[in-house]
Amino acid sequence: MAKPVIWIPRRLSEATIARARRDYEVILNEADTPGTAEEIVAMSARVDGMIPCHSEHFTADVVARLDPRLRIVANHSVGVDHCDLAALKSRGIVVTNTPDVLSDATAEIAMLLMLGAARHAVRGDRIVRQGEWDSWSPSFMVGKQVTGARLGIVGMGRVGRAFAQKARGFGMEIHYHNRSRLAPDEEQGAVFHDGIDSLLEVADFLSLHCPATPETVDLLNAERLARLPAGAVVVNTARGALIDEAALLAAIERGHVAAAGLDCFKVEPGGNPAFAGHENIFMLPHIGSATRATRDAMGARALDNLDAFFAGREPRDRLV
Ligand code: DGY
Repeated sequence: MAKPVIWIPRRLSEATIARARRDYEVILNEADTPGTAEEIVAMSARVDGMIPCHSEHFTADVVARLDPRLRIVANHSVGVDHCDLAALKSRGIVVTNTPDVLSDATAEIAMLLMLGAARHAVRGDRIVRQGEWDSWSPSFMVGKQVTGARLGIVGMGRVGRAFAQKARGFGMEIHYHNRSRLAPDEEQGAVFHDGIDSLLEVADFLSLHCPATPETVDLLNAERLARLPAGAVVVNTARGALIDEAALLAAIERGHVAAAGLDCFKVEPGGNPAFAGHENIFMLPHIGSATRATRDAMGARALDNLDAFFAGREPRDRLV
C-alpha cells in the first residue's frame, strides 16, 4: 500500500525526520522558513497530513481554501492558537497537538526567567561582558529573593504544575488560579484562588501558563498589573497575547513591577523593541521547549498521532 504523503514545513529533530521518512512519503521544507498561507493552501492538494509548528497559521481564510485531500494537521506544539479549530473542524480535518512532553523544558525556562529577572541577569551579564564591572558594594545589584516568596500561577495545567513542582524546591509558597480546582494530590498544598484578582494580590512572583484564547487576550492588563504587590516580578512562557505589553511597560517604568522575564511576545519573531531599553526585562526568543530531548519527544508525539490516524485509530491528542 502506498505510504501517506505528509508535509513538514520546519526543520524538526533528526530523529523525527528519520522516523517520518521511514513511515511516510515526506515533503520537507529544507529551507526551514515559516509556511505562508499560500504554501499551506498549495501543499494541501499534495499531502494527506501535515506536521506544522506554531509558525504556520491556519486562519479561517486559509482553512476555507484547503484542498479536501488534507485530512490531518498533527501539530508539533502544545499551543494551538495558530489554528482556527472551529474552521478546521467544520472542514472535517483532524487536529492534534503535543501535550505533556514539553512541560519540564518550559518550566525550566520559566525558572530561568524568574531568577534572571529577579537577580538582574541582563545588567550583570552586560557589565561583566563589556568590562564595566569596576566596583563592588553591598548595595550593588541587590535583587529580589525567591525563597519564601509567594508564587502566583495562572493556569495550573501540565506546565503550570511542572513549574510549581520546581518552585517548591526553591521554598516558594504556591498560589494558583485555574478554571477548576485541582485534586489534593495534584495541588500538593498550593492555595487555590477561584478568581484571578485575589491571586494577583498575593503574587510576589506571577507566572502565566494558560493558553491564548479570545477570552485570555490581554489577561494581564493595566488594572490587573496594579493589583500585584509593589515590586512583583512577572514571568510569561505561555503566549504573548496574554499580556497588554504597553501596560506592562508602564508598570515597569513606574517601578510597580520590579522586573519581567518573557519568552513570548505579541509580535513573533521580533519581540517588542520598546522593552529593549529596560535591563530589568529579561527576554528570550520563544525557546521554552527548545531542548534536544523535548524536540525529539514532540516529534515522536506528533508522529504517534499521525500513525494512529492513518491506522484508523483515534489519535491520542486529538483536539477536533
Ligand atoms: C508550544 O508547543 O506551544 C510551544 O510554544 C512551541 O511551539
